[in-house]
Amino acid sequence: MNALKGKTAVVTGGGRGIGRAIAVGLAEQGVDRIGLIARSADQLSAAARAVENAGARTKIIAADLSRLDGLPTIVDDLTAELGGVDVLINNAAVVAPLGPTTTVSLQSYLDALALNVVAVAGLSALLIPGMRERAWGRIVNVSSGVAGHPTGMIGGNAYAASKAALEAHSLNLSAELSGSGVTVNIYRPGIVDTAMQGWIRDQDPAVIGEQMHGRFHSYHESGLLISPEASAAKLIARVAGEESGQIWDVNDDVDAG
Ligand SMILES: NC(=O)c1ccc[n+]([C@@H]2O[C@H](COP(=O)([O-])OP(=O)(O)OC[C@H]3O[C@@H](n4cnc5c(N)ncnc54)[C@H](OP(=O)(O)O)[C@@H]3O)[C@@H](O)[C@H]2O)c1
Repeated sequence: MNALKGKTAVVTGGGRGIGRAIAVGLAEQGVDRIGLIARSADQLSAAARAVENAGARTKIIAADLSRLDGLPTIVDDLTAELGGVDVLINNAAVVAPLGPTTTVSLQSYLDALALNVVAVAGLSALLIPGMRERAWGRIVNVSSGVAGHPTGMIGGNAYAASKAALEAHSLNLSAELSGSGVTVNIYRPGIVDTAMQGWIRDQDPAVIGEQMHGRFHSYHESGLLISPEASAAKLIARVAGEESGQIWDVNDDVDAG
């Protein structure tokens, strides 16, 4: 039986890229109601149309998740429209600020941690009580290979630190929820052809460093980037399972259909 059928999901950063592909993929797997959160209302509307075409009802919320005070209202709005949330995909993140750590403002560092880590913990904390009551919940936090290899992205200190913190948060939370029916897993999506990659390529090499500039251009030019849909399929293939506290990687040998 398909455990996702009839469920309700929320995908942060569901307006474009990997998040949008995950939302459409969940709808194709029978998820009934899907909430999409991001700042850009136009992208959310377009993503919602794609999700609805795939068979799910949607609720879009245009909000900045790094404004942590707004999280309870976001969750209230979502649950009022969709009911209890069974699947939470914490996918929204920023890669900024980039550049030598000595040049980065502490505010931009804090903003990255607020979105990439604290908002994830906050949304999870708000949705876990309902998942526990129903004794079934799935949380997947979208990370990056940089968490396992922090020196692989010199000039991306805040991003590397945020994804390492995200993974520690996820593994700790998984252990805390052991036996509750609520699982927490991490997904490293690979090198994916999205706006985030394009944004990095567009940055001034004098600011982000020749090494990072060259590396992200070579990903693009060598045809290494995979599609958001191909990456999303690997997450969706595992989301309904019982395992928890795992670091899933796009390169894992998983039958993604
Ligand atoms: N692409 C890659 O190669 C790659 C590699 C490793 C890991 N990842 C991870 O994969 C995830 C998705 O990345 P992507 O490549 O799909 O990025 P993307 O194209 O930039 O999409 C990011 C999504 O997050 C939303 N978002 C950004 N800031 C937000 C904020 N403050 N509040 C609410 N929503 C916000 C964006 O919408 P708005 O801007 O409209 O808010 C967008 O919908 C991220 O966690 C990223 O770290 C990506």
